[in-house]
Amino acid sequence: MSSYDLLVVGSGLFGAIIAHEARAEGKTVLVVEKRDHIGGNCYTEEVDGIHVHKYGAHIFRTSDKSIWEYVEQFCEFNNFVNSPVANYKGELYNMPFNMNTFHALWGVVTPDEARAKIEEQRVACENPRNLEEHVLSLVGRDVYEKLVKGYTEKQWGKPCTELPPSIMRRIPLRMIYDNNYFNDRYQGIPIGGYTAVLEKMLEGCEVRLSTDYLADKEALDALASQVVYTGTLDSYFDYRFGPLEYRSLRFEHERLDVENYQGVAVMNFNDRETPYTRIIEHKHFEFGTQPTTVISREYPQEWTVGIEPFYPMEDAENRARFERYRELAEGEEKVRFGGRLGEYRYYDMQDTVKSALAKYAAWFGGNGVR
Ligand code: FDA
Repeated sequence: MSSYDLLVVGSGLFGAIIAHEARAEGKTVLVVEKRDHIGGNCYTEEVDGIHVHKYGAHIFRTSDKSIWEYVEQFCEFNNFVNSPVANYKGELYNMPFNMNTFHALWGVVTPDEARAKIEEQRVACENPRNLEEHVLSLVGRDVYEKLVKGYTEKQWGKPCTELPPSIMRRIPLRMIYDNNYFNDRYQGIPIGGYTAVLEKMLEGCEVRLSTDYLADKEALDALASQVVYTGTLDSYFDYRFGPLEYRSLRFEHERLDVENYQGVAVMNFNDRETPYTRIIEHKHFEFGTQPTTVISREYPQEWTVGIEPFYPMEDAENRARFERYRELAEGEEKVRFGGRLGEYRYYDMQDTVKSALAKYAAWFGGNGVR
């Protein structure tokens, strides 16, 4: 006899929602998590009263009211609006590319002047063979050289001339003076940090930290009648067809005895020479007034098995490999797969919420997004 109705592997957003939905239906749930804390990549750690986003900046946003309201069951959101600043060798530009950016670049004032300047700079190219040709044909030399080239090359570890145009199919140019990075209707940061949200989701579940499911699979499987696995798909099948590749990040966190280090939550460093792509100053996500601050420098890095996987490599080889793993996964009787690692997809949090609710409904009944 199984002791639990459901075993959830991974306490990130996907696993926590599956666990919550199961508990809400009266099921008994065991959650195992290989890290020493819950929350997956949404985890925030409190330092001097500041919620530090340990795995990169997390800003919740959606235009789907049902998703926003679903998450609001677990927290109240503040009114943070992401307005990052791009730093190119000490020159500061607003993001996303909008009239403030164009004014700082060229002194233009009206949208017509900005459009004319972009048109003058564009390098026509009908069939761009690489990212450089593609971006030059869309936005011209200044935006490409100062705001796209260095940042993208650091992010992907390759020159833009060796990157495919598909990395940036569209470059939104906003012809109004508006620095809000996102177009979504709802946006904010949970007051009290993300970890508190995940804790609430997991209420009523037994959670075992520092427990690697794959290291003790047989014994853990025996404890529950159903399993939902949110770890990497290739590791579940012991990398039988080779690893599904990722791009990774390394974070350097620093606590500083200053009240305000950079005056904004997210500053991008768009030149090629600065080794990091961004500095996050966490207190600004929550309008913090603490006397100290915590910053995190974000360094893109190569990925190999064993290093934290962040961004799936969206190329044909990895997609084909994923399909082979997916077929194997479909053959599993007791274990179901989901989340950004189980599905080998980049999922924003809103996509994760939507996917978890839809999958819960498909697997165990229920209504999906409510
Ligand atoms: P997640 O990776 O969070 O959780 C999986 C959990 O499973 C982990 O805790 C892991 O330790 C555990 N696990 C894996 N294998 C295991 C095993 N064998 N045994 C036990 N446990 C195991 N989204 C957004 O909306 N706004 C934003 O600003 C950002 N920002 C952002 C920045 C960066 C750098 C990244 C990479 C991603 C974002 N995101 C985001 C996306 C967001 O992080 C994502 O949607 C969720 O974390 C996905 O939650 P999951 O539960 O699927 O995975």
